[in-house]
Amino acid sequence: MMRIGVIGAGEIGLLRAKSVESDRVASLAAVADPDLAAAQRAVSGTSAKAISDYRDLVSDDQIDALIVSTPVHLHEEMCIAAFEGGKHVLCEKPLSNSVESCKRILATAERTGKTLAVGFNHRFYPAMKFVKDVVEAGTIGRLDHLRVFGGHDGLANFRADWNYKSELSGGGAMMDVGIHMTDLARFVAGEVKEVFGVASNRVWNVPGSEDNAVAIMKSESGVPIIFQSTWSEWIGYQVVIEAYGDNGMVRGAYAPMFNLLVTQDKPGGPRKKIKKRYPGIIIREKLKGWQTTTLCSFETEIAEFGKMIAGECVALADGWSGLRAVEIANALYESSRTDQPLVLGSRSDAESSDKCDSAMEVASRQSK
Ligand SMILES: NC(=O)c1ccc[n+]([C@@H]2O[C@H](COP(=O)([O-])OP(=O)(O)OC[C@H]3O[C@@H](n4cnc5c(N)ncnc54)[C@H](O)[C@@H]3O)[C@@H](O)[C@H]2O)c1
Repeated sequence: MMRIGVIGAGEIGLLRAKSVESDRVASLAAVADPDLAAAQRAVSGTSAKAISDYRDLVSDDQIDALIVSTPVHLHEEMCIAAFEGGKHVLCEKPLSNSVESCKRILATAERTGKTLAVGFNHRFYPAMKFVKDVVEAGTIGRLDHLRVFGGHDGLANFRADWNYKSELSGGGAMMDVGIHMTDLARFVAGEVKEVFGVASNRVWNVPGSEDNAVAIMKSESGVPIIFQSTWSEWIGYQVVIEAYGDNGMVRGAYAPMFNLLVTQDKPGGPRKKIKKRYPGIIIREKLKGWQTTTLCSFETEIAEFGKMIAGECVALADGWSGLRAVEIANALYESSRTDQPLVLGSRSDAESSDKCDSAMEVASRQSK
């Protein structure tokens, strides 16, 4: 039985604690938050402890792994303390608020021989998983290009100011909802190699925090990715990924959860259309909220976390994926400042803390 502690009992930490509690092979040991009442809420109905200082979790020999679910500027300190204390870590997205900070986290995981996973839970949303499976199965033929979009209504959506203060969060829409979409683009098209982007902040006017980031990216195998992340999606929370091949296209969208698959035998040939509407999820969200969908994805992540620690190949994002997503955000910022495209370096062994993010390897092979 893997004993897990959760650091941070905000909206997401509460769901993380629930996901551990409902796992068959993990158990919730404790939740830490300086707001002790929040920690107590997160452990209520369980045998886990509520504590105010996360360092008590780090030094607890009975705990095997920690989930870091705090504001982004605290991730580095907590991940590094956890590794030094001999714990594996599942850190919320984004891994940290700068590339250098992410690298320090990966280096410590590597040195201490501990597993680092990153909470890119959109990989496990059924509509997104469907897109990944369809592309991998070759159902739409050879992958030609991706269209990726993620947005919500920005500051109107946030409960705490750390979400939009760039000195804490590392940026705006790109580091927030955009980081999920960057990861999904890599997940489906393989590694992103080149970024040409524009960031603007004319809507919410927060210095250093873009409310729109648009880009053309290119995968290592040359697949173009048309990308937008935004804090001015007035419809509300929307994420969409569309993959186009010579024999069809597939769309994955949320919210609501939806897929469209169009297939043809040859370019321009007779087409078949399939729509998947996920009525069970839509009704459950109407009755019990969007949190139930997030919780399902967190439950999958916990199950995969145990397997990743055991050295199995899983679809859970690893440390490299966490770092690369922040590198892509940074490249977009740099490209916007310089009006030039940016080419990203390749993965080096020193930066690989993961056991096996097999989903990425499959995506890279597939799109070649
Ligand atoms: N995976 C997703 O879909 C998703 C969605 C939203 C947010 N997130 C990420 O989850 C993380 C938490 O976001 P949130 O919305 O729950 O934030 P939140 O502001 O609701 O909660 C943060 C919690 O951290 C606690 N905290 C602050 N300092 C602490 C410390 N020193 N020790 C322990 N706890 C401390 C706060 O008291 C608060 O309870 C962030 O990294 C965020 O980017 C992920």
